[in-house]
Amino acid sequence: MSGLRARIIGTGSYLPERRLGNVELAKMVDTSDEWIKSRTGISERRIAAEGELTSDLATKAGQKALEKAGLAPKDLDLIIVATTTPDLIFPATASIVQKKLGADGPKNIPAFDIQAVCTGFIYALTVAEKFLASGSCKHALVVGAETFSRIVDWEDRGTCILFGDGAGAVVLSAEQGDAGIISTHIHADGNYVDLLRASGGPSSGAPDGQDPRLPGLGAAQMRGNEVYKRAVVGLGQIVDETLEANNLQKSDIDWLVPHQANLRIIKSTAKRLSMGMDQVVVTVDRHGNTSAASVPLALDEAVRDGRIQPGHMVLMEAFGGGFTWGSALVRW
Ligand code: COA
Repeated sequence: MSGLRARIIGTGSYLPERRLGNVELAKMVDTSDEWIKSRTGISERRIAAEGELTSDLATKAGQKALEKAGLAPKDLDLIIVATTTPDLIFPATASIVQKKLGADGPKNIPAFDIQAVCTGFIYALTVAEKFLASGSCKHALVVGAETFSRIVDWEDRGTCILFGDGAGAVVLSAEQGDAGIISTHIHADGNYVDLLRASGGPSSGAPDGQDPRLPGLGAAQMRGNEVYKRAVVGLGQIVDETLEANNLQKSDIDWLVPHQANLRIIKSTAKRLSMGMDQVVVTVDRHGNTSAASVPLALDEAVRDGRIQPGHMVLMEAFGGGFTWGSALVRW
């Protein structure tokens, strides 16, 4: 054991300027502000501008995290981008971000993407932590970035009300001491692929009804009610697993930074932890579900406004397509 911990030394985030509120959305599909708010807690979401790509959002969030960390792009040893909406089929969005950030250069640092849908950031953090704790890297940038609006079916009221675009990032540093990532826990169950997916792709071909010569872009499809039930169970289990693995009590957790899919799901996880909502970071009302970006967006907000302070115990968790789910416990 190296005794090194992966400490988060800077956070950053970026949201596209355009806000899409529920009232405007209700002019596009048969829904209402009241229905969306009461079922999901969402009031508005951000939509990337035409030509604004996932890599652009990721780069801006990464720049802000680097500024906070007091590091230059050339100080990085590793870039991981978690995304379900990459700029291109290949190469990885992380390669594009490396160039846009100015982290290209003599070291030719590794840069790769991770695809675990809404759990992507937790998966990416898990991988980065291994590089840092083993001493292979000193500084890593981990980004969750999405332009989910590009794969939403804007005629499906069951899904289009939920998603938004954005990016969040953290800079990690391998350091001695108590502060940093204490443990990560990740899981997947491939039996549920069909409950939450975007069909179409280079291997399986075009989604139904599209030109079969083109891979095409599949829209996100979800059996919302079934996903909801599984999410509540999966997140309950991951919270218990994390506490047990670290021999902690519920009362040891200062902050819950959950994936922002639905306020009702967030509340049920908080209840499981016997936490008041004043200890839970909520952004879903203003961001909607930004998939892999949602946890680092919420984290950045709570770090910047001073809620999360050195010494605090922070529990991040997420659940998403795959199904995938996971958690990261961090001493700030
Ligand atoms: N506006 C108005 N009515 C809507 C609607 C909308 N935007 N979307 C669905 N409805 C209707 C349905 O058609 C259905 O009508 P019916 O009873 O006449 O058939 C009714 O509302 C109930 O639908 P249901 O899907 O059971 O609603 P719900 O309470 O489960 O809420 C979600 C739907 C999507 C908000 C909820 O299931 C959810 O949040 N699921 C999990 C989402 C999630 O976490 N996804 C990502 C994981 S990362």
